[in-house]
Amino acid sequence: MEGQITREDALSREGYRHACHIMLYGDCSAKLFGKIPIKHIVLMQMRFDGLLGFPGGLVNPSKETLEAGLSRELLEEVGVAIPVGVENHVSSCLATSCPRLITHFYIKKRTEAELREIERAAVATATDHGLEVLGMVRVPLYFLKNGGGLPFFLSHSFISNSRAQLLSALQRCGLLSQGELEKAVRQAEQMRR
Ligand code: GTP
Ligand code: MN
Ligand code: MN
Ligand code: MN
Ligand code: MN
Ligand code: MN
Repeated sequence: MEGQITREDALSREGYRHACHIMLYGDCSAKLFGKIPIKHIVLMQMRFDGLLGFPGGLVNPSKETLEAGLSRELLEEVGVAIPVGVENHVSSCLATSCPRLITHFYIKKRTEAELREIERAAVATATDHGLEVLGMVRVPLYFLKNGGGLPFFLSHSFISNSRAQLLSALQRCGLLSQGELEKAVRQAEQMRR
């Protein structure tokens, strides 16, 4: 990913703000219309500004670890204090959209039942629901006719580099093949014209 640095480098820099976000995902046995396999649940959120992004937020590393800060943000935004560890960290990037901001990205796998519980809590108990977070959304990973599914999803607007984070995470976790990812990006590109 563009502007990528190591976690250690990121934490050694002075005068930077830090944001931590996470992709919570898991397997799913359901079928859309009883025939199209959903295969995986990948959670993102509709933010207050109308952009799609991952749950998480600003963390102050002089007051808390990156992972503890992310867990605190998750409690606010999805209503569950999901434990996050260094082993869940996948990348740190100098944000191109925002000067002096480093964005840290994490991935954590959950069971289908846990993901459903997270979706329920995001509405029922998360203090940010209806304020900074307008709702959790699942990313459609399948392809329908005329760009339906993932291509249409990718044609929406995303905060900062969250779209690139999504694409690299789908590849890293093996949720889609390289060919499927390229097809989705190509079709999304055609829609944006
Ligand atoms: P407040 O509680 O209002 O401070 O918001 P927050 O702490 O939840 O911060 P937010 O989630 O908006 O993230 C802080 C900054 O990180 C944003 O202004 C964006 O520039 C960036 N950002 C937000 N979401 C994402 C994301 O999913 N991925 C990446 N890479 N950056 C993000
Ligand atoms: Mn229906
Ligand atoms: Mn915050
Ligand atoms: Mn927040
Ligand atoms: Mn946030
Ligand atoms: Mn807040």
